[in-house]
Amino acid sequence: MNKARAPVAKSVRPSTKKSPSAKALQTAVEELNAGNLSQAEFAVRLALTARPDDGDALNLLGGIALRKGNLTEALSALERAAAAKPRDAGVHFNLAGIYRRRGELEKAVEHYDIASRARRGYADAETLKGEALKELGEWQRAIGAYQTALQYSAKNAVALNGLGQCLMRAGDHEGAVKAFTASLEALPPQDTLNRARVLANVGRALLRTGAGLDGLRVLADAAALAPDNGELLLLLARSLRHVRVIPEGDGFRQVLLRLFEHEEVDPRDLASAAAAALKADPAFVKSLRVLSSGSTPIEAQQLLEVTRNSLLLAHLRNAPVTDGQLELALTNLRRQLTLEAVKSNSVDLEFVSALARQAFLNEYVWGVTAEEETALTELIADLSAEGRWSRLALAACYTPWSEHHFEARGAPAAVAELIRQQIGEPAEERALAAEVPALSSVTDSTSLRVRAQYEQNPYPRWVRVGPRAPRPFRRALLDRLPHLAEHFLPPTDTPRVLIAGCGTGLETMNVINAFEVASVLAIDLSRASLGYACRKLKEQGVTNVDHRQADILALGHLEDRFDLIHSFGVIHHMANPQRGLAILSRLLKPGGILFLGLYSKIARRPLVKARTLIAERQIKATKDGIRHIRREILTGGVEDPELAILASPASDFWTLSECRDLMFHVEEHQFTLLEVEAMFAREGLAFLGLEVPHAPDFTRFRLQFPEASDLMALKAWHAFEEQNPEVFGGTYRLWARSCPENSRS
Ligand SMILES: C[S@@+](CC[C@H](N)C(=O)[O-])C[C@H]1O[C@@H](n2cnc3c(N)ncnc32)[C@H](O)[C@@H]1O
Repeated sequence: MNKARAPVAKSVRPSTKKSPSAKALQTAVEELNAGNLSQAEFAVRLALTARPDDGDALNLLGGIALRKGNLTEALSALERAAAAKPRDAGVHFNLAGIYRRRGELEKAVEHYDIASRARRGYADAETLKGEALKELGEWQRAIGAYQTALQYSAKNAVALNGLGQCLMRAGDHEGAVKAFTASLEALPPQDTLNRARVLANVGRALLRTGAGLDGLRVLADAAALAPDNGELLLLLARSLRHVRVIPEGDGFRQVLLRLFEHEEVDPRDLASAAAAALKADPAFVKSLRVLSSGSTPIEAQQLLEVTRNSLLLAHLRNAPVTDGQLELALTNLRRQLTLEAVKSNSVDLEFVSALARQAFLNEYVWGVTAEEETALTELIADLSAEGRWSRLALAACYTPWSEHHFEARGAPAAVAELIRQQIGEPAEERALAAEVPALSSVTDSTSLRVRAQYEQNPYPRWVRVGPRAPRPFRRALLDRLPHLAEHFLPPTDTPRVLIAGCGTGLETMNVINAFEVASVLAIDLSRASLGYACRKLKEQGVTNVDHRQADILALGHLEDRFDLIHSFGVIHHMANPQRGLAILSRLLKPGGILFLGLYSKIARRPLVKARTLIAERQIKATKDGIRHIRREILTGGVEDPELAILASPASDFWTLSECRDLMFHVEEHQFTLLEVEAMFAREGLAFLGLEVPHAPDFTRFRLQFPEASDLMALKAWHAFEEQNPEVFGGTYRLWARSCPENSRS
């Protein structure tokens, strides 16, 4: 949004005495107002030769330097102007603007404050003071500044928007909706981009009040208002993660299609919204139901209704299906197509290729019948005849092409992506994995078993992540933990980072997308995972990450020390997680920060039931075993309704490696927050805060635990989790800080 700005020349009141220097100053103002910067500078310098400390002339010189983009010269001139005219509102306003552009926000606030006190009713100075305070993360003081600005000028769109943003930060989402709505009303109709941005803020605030559907509708309207604005599309995409209800109408479906094609959108964020949109289309649902029932011969029109559905195709190609009904129907349709193909050869290559890409993404986790396997063997027995590519594409719906041996030359365009996904990329990963140097040996018996699991099933198999928007470390940390006092922050803005148990690189990407970093060491036990990580990070153009194969438990002698250690979903897979935590905490620099993802015992209660069931029925951790238990859960074959929660869109249920991780892990420990508290204390780690996936839950916590210290009290969070078992989505996202002097062990 355009910032309020005072024209430099306006604040200069040249003397009416017609001395030579006053005349030169007068000329300078006129030239500046006419946009002639060089002539204006010449005239102002002439004035300064006669009166070197003339505050107006120095102010003008600063303004000219600013317009020419020379911040250093502008700052020097305006500092001198301020010394000459210490109570001049315009001079201090301009000076504040320069400090803000230089990132020296405290100084900017100081000068906006002087400007505001020097001129009564100076709404722009208060508004921009609010903006600088907002950038500093001082929400409450920013709210005060915006409110003062609004007393002077009630329809100030910038102040209203800033006020809304800070109210949102402070947890007053209803207040934020009101402020954003007023900002929207204050903006002129032709200011489309700013209107779209403020509208998006209305949408975000609505989502946080719990008005999900309205929020999405407004966000979609914002994206439609400025269709070329990537920022708004990304905002919408992130808000769609795991939603089950979406606004009606073809417009929303079109937005989803655009989002699937967007380079910076993580397509997994769109899966459940896409399923909801598909299920809201009666013709599609009817055709899919008939086709997947297998009870009638396939009708051409119904087949087209499904196989040419562009949203379904985009979804299948880009993100694992996370909707049980859709998965079962598509599994049945795949069976029908395979059985039919044996008879007729008539397969829609584009659709089957999309289905094969989906199968690869979900790692062939959908159920397969014996009948299909027989048909498939028959289909690929002779690849020389007509329909060879259709039959091969059908085969790729059951096993990846890298496991078949055939000549890929001369392949039609419809399968080019399939070749890349199923032949090219796995070969590249194998080559890259072989080159990763080892940093330690792996001898611990649990580590060996865990490694074997992830060599077979690298986790997670990701396609794209959100946008690259790294921010200085401390600033970004404050964004996530706004309650943190200055002395808890690490001493650097560009940390040396360790990703401990990086898996396939998704976590590494998330870290470097969020924080400016100096360099990163990413380690994992599994070479297959590291190969995937290396390929993906190379694809994303990342060059400052070193990958090494290592066991965390063998890093006790590493001399390197880190400002940030990020370890998500790793130490709970060790025989003794406390040992892993001890090693990680010793690798932190004093005051270094640890981010830890740990399983929650309370949230994972249904999993204990699933594991008991698996043990009772002696289901093995093989592809068939995993397919079997999934099918039982999806079709209601298990009696305990609590188990159905495992098949929610956010759950690790929808791909083979995720599902193995979820229900069949070779080693898994879970914790309560009270146990975490004791673990941290033993290693001299001070708990800094927790991330809560859903903002409305955070607001509820604050209502119940309003003291500032509650945010950093694991006991308070534990009490809250006991009342709201799903609040952390299964895994705690914990922030802590190294204070070895407090160690208990
Ligand atoms: C559930 S995956 C999580 C991957 C990644 N952190 C993420 O969130 O995307 C667990 C990873 O930790 C790795 N791991 C487990 N124990 C480890 C150990 N002792 N040393 C290094 N890596 C380990 C596994 O190989 C696996 O890649």
